[in-house]
Amino acid sequence: MTERVTRPSLSKDDVRFETRLRPKRFDEFVGQDTLKANLSVFIEAAKKRDEPLDHCLFYGPPGLGKTTLAHIIAAEMETELVSTSGPVIERPYDLTGMLTNLKRGDVLFIDEMHRLQHVVEEYLYPAMEDFSVDIVLDKGPSARSVKLNLEHFTLVAATTRAGLLTSPLRSRFGVAQRLSYYDPEELASIVGRSAEILGVPIDEEGTLEIARRSRGTPRIANRLLRRIRDFAEVMGDGRVSAQVAHESLLRLEVDERGLDEMDRRIMEAILLKFGGGPVGIKSLAVAVGEESETIEEIYEPFLIQEGLLKRTQRGREATPAAYDYFGVPSTLGEQGKLL
Ligand SMILES: Nc1ncnc2c1ncn2[C@@H]1O[C@H](COP(=O)(O)OP(=O)(O)O)[C@@H](O)[C@H]1O
Ligand SMILES: [Mg+2]
Repeated sequence: MTERVTRPSLSKDDVRFETRLRPKRFDEFVGQDTLKANLSVFIEAAKKRDEPLDHCLFYGPPGLGKTTLAHIIAAEMETELVSTSGPVIERPYDLTGMLTNLKRGDVLFIDEMHRLQHVVEEYLYPAMEDFSVDIVLDKGPSARSVKLNLEHFTLVAATTRAGLLTSPLRSRFGVAQRLSYYDPEELASIVGRSAEILGVPIDEEGTLEIARRSRGTPRIANRLLRRIRDFAEVMGDGRVSAQVAHESLLRLEVDERGLDEMDRRIMEAILLKFGGGPVGIKSLAVAVGEESETIEEIYEPFLIQEGLLKRTQRGREATPAAYDYFGVPSTLGEQGKLL
C-alpha cells in the first residue's frame, strides 16, 4: 500500500528525516507562541533555582511537535532524555530500571501516555510525587517490599487523547499544554527551513502552496515537501514552484484545502449516506472503512478545526460550510436519509 501523505502519524520514511528536521532549540521551534513563552519562563525559573523542571504534559493531534518539545526541554535544561512509550511498558517493573538510572533533572519522555496500563500508571504516582518506587524482593513468605529512592527527574508525557487520561494522573503534571494546528505562515517558515536543510530549491509561492495544504501539521508539511521534491526532480528541473507543488499535490490527492482522500470519504459519507448527520462514530467508521479511534484521533480534529464537522451529543454532523465546500445542496441531505 502506498503511504498516505497527509496522515500525520509517523511513517518509516519520517523516522529517517525527523531527526534531521527536528528543531533542537526553542529559537528554531516555530509557532505555538503562548506555549513557547510559558515554557521558556518555567525553564528559566527552574534553572535559576537550580531545580529540575516540573513534570510536563503535552497533548494535541499527531505531528504538531510534542516529541520535539520533549527533546528541546532536555536540551535547554542541559540534561539527558530517555524515551519510551505507553504501550511498550507492559509491567510496572519495566520502568524500574529506567527510573533508577535517571540522574537529577533528566527527562523521562513517555509517548502515547493514554495507552499506559493502569498498574503502570499507579506505579508511576509515587515516582512522580515523592521520587521513590516500591519494589518487591523475593517470593512467597519471605517477600518484602523495599523503597527505592530516585533522583529528582522530569517526566514529560505526550498524548493525542488527553481525554483518556485519568484525573489523578493529569493532576500530577505541573505543566499541561495543548498544541494547536499551525497557520499557513508558520508552516511556510517550517517548510522553508526544511527545504534549506534538505537542499531543495523552492520559491516563496511553492513554500506557501505546501504550507496551505498541510492540514496545519508540520510533519505533513515536511512529508509533502519530500514527495513534491521527488516530482520536481523526475518531471522537471528539481525546482519547486507553486505550479510544481500544485500538480504534485493533485497527484497525491491532496485538495485545495489540504483534505486527503479519507477526509473526503468521511465528509461525503456524512453528507450523502447519513443525510448530513448526526451519525454515531461507529457507524461512520464502518461506512468509510477506518477504525473509529483513528477517525477520532487523526481526521476529526482537523475537520472540526476547518469548520466542516461538528461533534454533538447525538453524533457527528456536517456544517453548512461542508455542504458548501462539497457542493451538496442541503435538501439532498434529507433525501439521502431515505436511501
Ligand atoms: N514548531 C515546529 N517547528 C518546526 N518544525 C516542527 C515543529 N513542530 C514539529 N516540527 C517538525 O515536525 C516533525 C514532527 O514533530 P513531532 O514532535 O514528532 O510531533 P508529535 O510528537 O506531536 O507527533 C518534527 O520532526 C519536526 O521536523
Ligand atoms: Mg511524537
